[in-house]
Amino acid sequence: MKTQVFRLLCLGDVVGPDAALFLRRRLPAFRQRSGCDFVVVNGENAARHNGLDREGAQLLFAGGADVITTGNHAFRQKEIREELDGATALLRPANFPGHLPGRGWGIYQAGGCRVLVANVQGTLFMEALSSPFEAMEKILAEAAGRYDVAVCDIHAEATAEKIAFARRFDGRLSAVAGTHTHVPTADHTVLPGGTGYVTDLGMCGAVESVLGMAVDVAVARFVDHLPTPYTPAKGAIAATGALFELDPFSGKCLSVAPVKIEET
Ligand SMILES: [Fe+2]
Repeated sequence: MKTQVFRLLCLGDVVGPDAALFLRRRLPAFRQRSGCDFVVVNGENAARHNGLDREGAQLLFAGGADVITTGNHAFRQKEIREELDGATALLRPANFPGHLPGRGWGIYQAGGCRVLVANVQGTLFMEALSSPFEAMEKILAEAAGRYDVAVCDIHAEATAEKIAFARRFDGRLSAVAGTHTHVPTADHTVLPGGTGYVTDLGMCGAVESVLGMAVDVAVARFVDHLPTPYTPAKGAIAATGALFELDPFSGKCLSVAPVKIEET
């Protein structure tokens, strides 16, 4: 039987192995406390040097992620490239070239509902992939009639592209959650057609950091312009995201609120 209200938690980019461990530790209790039916986590930076590795994916799934989405670092770690084809709950952006391993969307079961989860990547100030708009149209056409609620993680740099994407699919997707910038935006809203939206979920990473990376390295890169490799920052971690309340009978969003998970 369908739940009356479908609670969907989306969390922003996980930065580094410590952040993946943090979610393994903290997410189960949060999930239970907030009555989440389904959790989508963007895991694309969970490995030490960007991308996602096997260990990071295992930690996120063990912590309660139902689906892991990714983005421009989806194919960074060779070991995860090998996993992508067989994995059902690990997504890479749908608008990467079709011959690459993995899938960009899937339909999952939770709370008596069929949940369509899609992952696309923006193209403004990013790699020149094919259109995320066309990719999403294609997914909706292929999945038509097979889902009750639908969410898309649009992994993109430009705020305008993410807002335009949400407007284009307003009323056709239950929720659109932006990722990639690691900085949470305060524009949680339900659009006129009934799509819950936020431009960026933020991240799960070290609080004292530059986007989750060590401060001294990040500052030096800007000051010296040398290609010093980024390293994840140490210290207390927090995770930000959004909790969407969805009506599984209409597929519309009822409310969306910011979420922050901290060390206690
Ligand atoms: Fe990214």
